Amino acid sequence: MASIAATGGLLFGFDTGVISGALPFIKNDLNIGESEVEDITTFAIIGAMFGALISGYLSDKLGRKRIILAAALIFLVGAITCGNANGVGGLMAARIFLGVGIGIASFATPLYLAEISPASIRGTLVSMFQLLITIGIFGAFLSDGAIADDANPSCWRNMFYVGTIPALVLLVGMFFLPESPRWLLSKGRDNEALKIMDKIEDPAVIAEEVNKMKSDIAQTKEEMSIAETFKQKWMFFPLMLAVLIMFFQQAVGINTVIYYGPSIFQKAGFESGEAAIMAQVSVGAVNVLFAIASLFLIDKLGRRKLFFLGMGGMVVTLLMIAYGFISLADDGANGQYLVVASMLLYIAFFAVSMGPLGWLIITEVFPTKVRGVGSSIGSLSNWGFNALIVWTFYKSIGAFTNAFDGKESYGTAGVFTMFAIIALIGIVWGYFFLPETKGKKLDEIENHWKNGGTPRTL
Ligand code: BGC
Repeated sequence: MASIAATGGLLFGFDTGVISGALPFIKNDLNIGESEVEDITTFAIIGAMFGALISGYLSDKLGRKRIILAAALIFLVGAITCGNANGVGGLMAARIFLGVGIGIASFATPLYLAEISPASIRGTLVSMFQLLITIGIFGAFLSDGAIADDANPSCWRNMFYVGTIPALVLLVGMFFLPESPRWLLSKGRDNEALKIMDKIEDPAVIAEEVNKMKSDIAQTKEEMSIAETFKQKWMFFPLMLAVLIMFFQQAVGINTVIYYGPSIFQKAGFESGEAAIMAQVSVGAVNVLFAIASLFLIDKLGRRKLFFLGMGGMVVTLLMIAYGFISLADDGANGQYLVVASMLLYIAFFAVSMGPLGWLIITEVFPTKVRGVGSSIGSLSNWGFNALIVWTFYKSIGAFTNAFDGKESYGTAGVFTMFAIIALIGIVWGYFFLPETKGKKLDEIENHWKNGGTPRTL
């Protein structure tokens, strides 16, 4: 059941990543400039913001299963309409539509996974979600790489069509999966819930689990008290943490590499679309490998150590990328390889730290009553900052290029230096504000805030 549901995570990764290999070809085939490239990329993220926004409400109203089925259908139709798009306008509209599916999947998949797994392996199944995103991204890069054909300018259309395969797996598979027992309980459909619990949970703990769910549901049902909870002064730290961890996750520029990687490699001198995509495939592989490493490290090293390791590594590697571009302007070829090598190191530092940390912290810092709403504020911030960075990437390169007398390599170096400065500010922020949540029970964290504690004293 979890493997089928987790296909939602794969599709989230696939459909965010697929654009990277498609862009160099779309650019030539549809004859567009960098500002339209930014629009086509960003519109899916805007769609995702919308999808994430409505899916909290809809998944409560219609149930988890129906909304994941709806996402699967959107993935399927979205992949076909993107591949079939007539011109730039059509492609932009299709990307917004596809994005809605991504947003729904980003919210509903982990929720369903958490609600349908037996208590004893819930943590593992949910933390696999980030890994599945990275596998989806890697899958997209690989398939882009296999399809890329410098002799066929419209090969990007096939890259999108490939997305119909995982979408079909999710659509057909999900059809046979049961509804979430927690949701059924919240609707008073106890008998149906118990039947499903019989299939998925250890009989010895069913009664206890059902009681726990019922008391959680009773707590979160008092709508007024959710609003009131957010007005409490001690909610400042959890809210600030959820928004700013996502700000720093995105503002270090991760998705400029994930979405625009091949175009960046082209700027660094790898001229053919095929060669640039092959460099991107190695980015995808490193991303998966280090996401696996983080599964082992996150509870061993703790959140803070991993944060400083990752952010510190990103400051250095971002500056190395910038230096690569500068030396590219000065003496050519060597810079090209420095850019690729430092990009791979940069991805490794991100994947082992900020990738999983962002999504983990937003589930840990909120009190039970507002955990659902709180973590959706976190994911909405994630998509919002993502859109902002991705939409301004080429514009910022343009602005820096003008400042450096029209030298584009210097302009690109300027943008990566800016990301390095943001990562440095993030380290200072983290030093003062990032709590160590390793080994803490969730109600321990909740009481800490309520008693006036600060992140550093946790
Ligand atoms: C981020 C995504 C990013 C992905 C890369 C996730 O944690 O939220 O924006 O594309 O990591 O692996």
